[in-house]
Amino acid sequence: MTRLVTSVIKWRAIRANLNSRIGFVATMGNLHSGHQSLLIRSINENKITVLSIFINPTQFDDKNDLASYPKTFEQDFILAEKLKVNYVLVPKYADLYPDNYKYRVIETDFSRCMEGAHRPKHFDGVLTVVMKLLMLVKPDRAYFGEKDFQQLQFITKMVKAFFLDTKIIPCPTIRDKNGLALSSRNSRLTQQQYKTAKRFPELLAMNASLSAITQKLKNQGFFVDYVEEYNDRRLAAVRLGKIRLIDNITI
Ligand code: PAJ
Repeated sequence: MTRLVTSVIKWRAIRANLNSRIGFVATMGNLHSGHQSLLIRSINENKITVLSIFINPTQFDDKNDLASYPKTFEQDFILAEKLKVNYVLVPKYADLYPDNYKYRVIETDFSRCMEGAHRPKHFDGVLTVVMKLLMLVKPDRAYFGEKDFQQLQFITKMVKAFFLDTKIIPCPTIRDKNGLALSSRNSRLTQQQYKTAKRFPELLAMNASLSAITQKLKNQGFFVDYVEEYNDRRLAAVRLGKIRLIDNITI
C-alpha cells in the first residue's frame, strides 16, 4: 500500500518507527520515465521507498517558470501506487521552511558556473531543500539523475561535506525515442519546437569544437545559454521560446 503523507510532523512520527533499509527519490512531480527509472532502482535495492513531490519555490529564479511548472499529482500518485512505492511525501512550504528560507546551504565554487551562472541562486534552493529532505527522510540511499549533472555533483559533495549517512546513487539519463532527455518541461514544447528540440542531443554529441556546436545550435533556432566541457562531460543549456532544455554527455 502506498501512503500519502502531507504533514512533516506525521512523517517524523512514521520515520521514527521505520527500521528497514530506505531508498529515497526526490522530485518536483509530473513524473515521467526518467523519475520512474530512479524509483524502480530504489524499489529493487531497498525494503522501503520514499518518493517526495515538492515544487520547491526557492530554486526557481524565474517566477513564470514556477507558475507554469506542470502539476499532475493524481497521475503521479497512481504511478507511485502501481510501482508500489511505500510513502509519497508531499510537504507544504510552511512545514518544510519553518525558517522561511533564512538558513541555506550554499556551494561557493562550481555553482557559479554553467547552470549556476544562468540561474542565479538556483543551486542554493536545490541544496537547501535536498538537505531538509535528507534530514527528514534519513534514507540509506538516495537516487539522483545524471541529467541534472551539476545538481548531482553538488548533492554528492554536500552529503560528504556534512557527514550525512546517505549514499547518493547516480542514475543514467533516460531519453525518448528521438534521443531527447526526458524532462517535465518537454510537455510544454509545441510540435514545431519539439522538431527542433530533438536535434539538441544529436548536435551536442557532434565531434566538433564547442564554438562550432554552439553555432550549429544557433542555426537550428536555439538560443544557447552555454556549451561547456568539464572533466569528461560536455554540458549544455538551450532555450526554445520560454522553454529551457539542459543535457550532458560523456566525451
Ligand atoms: P526533478 O526535475 O523532478 O527531478 C527529480 C529527479 O529525477 C532528479 O534527480 C533528476 O535528475 C531526475 N531526472 C529528471 N529527468 C531525468 C531523466 N530524463 N533521466 C534520469 N533522471 C532524470 O531535480 C529536481 O526535480 C529538483 O531539483 C529536486 C532534486 C527534487 C530538488 O527540488
